[in-house]
Amino acid sequence: MAKIELDVTINDEKFHRDAIDEDLKLVDFLRDEVGLTGTKFCCGIAVCRVCTVAIRRVPGGHEEAIRSCTTPLSDVNGKIVTTVEGLDKDGELHPLQKSFLENFAFQCGYSAPGFLMASYCLLDRLRRSPVPKADVDDAIQDAVGQHVCRCTGYVRYHRAIRQVILATPGLTV
Ligand code: FES
Ligand code: FES
Repeated sequence: MAKIELDVTINDEKFHRDAIDEDLKLVDFLRDEVGLTGTKFCCGIAVCRVCTVAIRRVPGGHEEAIRSCTTPLSDVNGKIVTTVEGLDKDGELHPLQKSFLENFAFQCGYSAPGFLMASYCLLDRLRRSPVPKADVDDAIQDAVGQHVCRCTGYVRYHRAIRQVILATPGLTV
């Protein structure tokens, strides 16, 4: 297997490996190499989206939701990754995390990190390109409509994300 020299920023921390398998999947690097087990693994074939994390391809670029179970390390070399562990700031939960709690959005919680990271990317998109209030439900559906929650918390997830979008200035017009 081909090895690469890896430099990647994860949750504001820089990680370097002199030689690592370029095909190693990001989810395995996060969980097994770095110890960030908040990112979950389920189908492994890019369907359920529980493994979703955010990536910026350039500093200041937009946050893109990617499925870490099928993303090889070679794709994230030099990039900036945010996982669910990177959402809180100074001990304060992210508004999405608070809203998920307030709305009892999850049950077992297995799908929650994926929903959080996809909706985190949605907030970034809306900040750059706000939508009319009437289009918020469609935007949420676009962002998380393909995420699988085996506890079927879809309505509550949707409600929690909606609450944050409508309460955050600048995301809607
Ligand atoms: S584990 Fe199911 S999409 Fe990645
Ligand atoms: S909360 Fe259990 S899978 Fe979604």
